[in-house]
Amino acid sequence: MSKLENMIEMNEVNKWYGDFHVLKDVNLKVKKGERVVICGPSGSGKSTTIRCMNRLEPFQEGQIMINGLELTEDVKRIREVRTHVGMVFQHFNLFPHLSILENLILAPTWVGKKPRKEAIETAMHYLERVKIADQADKYPNQLSGGQQQRVAIARCLCSNPDIMLFDEPTAALDPEMIGEVLDVMTELADDGITMVCVTHEMGFAKKVADRVIFMDAGQIVEENEPNEFFDNPQSDRLKMFLEQILDH
Ligand SMILES: Nc1ncnc2c1ncn2[C@@H]1O[C@H](COP(=O)(O)OP(=O)(O)OP(=O)(O)O)[C@@H](O)[C@H]1O
Ligand SMILES: [Mg+2]
Repeated sequence: MSKLENMIEMNEVNKWYGDFHVLKDVNLKVKKGERVVICGPSGSGKSTTIRCMNRLEPFQEGQIMINGLELTEDVKRIREVRTHVGMVFQHFNLFPHLSILENLILAPTWVGKKPRKEAIETAMHYLERVKIADQADKYPNQLSGGQQQRVAIARCLCSNPDIMLFDEPTAALDPEMIGEVLDVMTELADDGITMVCVTHEMGFAKKVADRVIFMDAGQIVEENEPNEFFDNPQSDRLKMFLEQILDH
């Protein structure tokens, strides 16, 4: 297998917060175009794992490669890696004093030095894509949570990432808005973007994921393609977890 077939490679990654061993020998490879869902109990290290992938968190041992580039402490390298990786969080983190369109062109014009006209064209393209172009001139607090999260996804797409990381993107939304965000994510998945998504939306995992990963206590305990993962869990810990979440 050629090296670049893996967009993400975590090899024996260990991380501590002080004395607390938060990631234990995490090995995770994600191929180009693959869609991976990560689930597991609260505190198991899911957010920490994906935050390490764009170096929002440092780690002490092991190796992470993104699109063939090793994540080191070198700031230039971190910046380079981040141009490949977009991240969507539970909270949308839009600037409240800027319009939707201004939120989307901020980074491309300031950081990316893109001409304003070009940045606007790109922003409008992705706002169309998340079906929200008609809201471009509104401010974030004039939009519903689901709409704001779709804006956050569009903002991410404006930097044309190869990889999208999602950390519980629907967890803060009212139930009736979850579907519209998952629909947008499903479309992105269909377009072939490499995707790693922490979520407990098991319907989404079944429909979209190529592989589901279960983490517990800082370790990857089990992984499988979705049907086997849900219908035939191997470890007692995953069996218990599935019973708990499927009960709700
Ligand atoms: N900055 C930090 N300093 C110290 N401990 C931390 C820090 N961030 C997270 N932790 C601890 O590390 C563990 C893993 O946290 P993480 O946020 O990765 O879990 P998670 O699986 O995403 O949980 P959740 O489902 O609640 O989001 C938790 O026990 C958490 O308390
Ligand atoms: Mg988390």
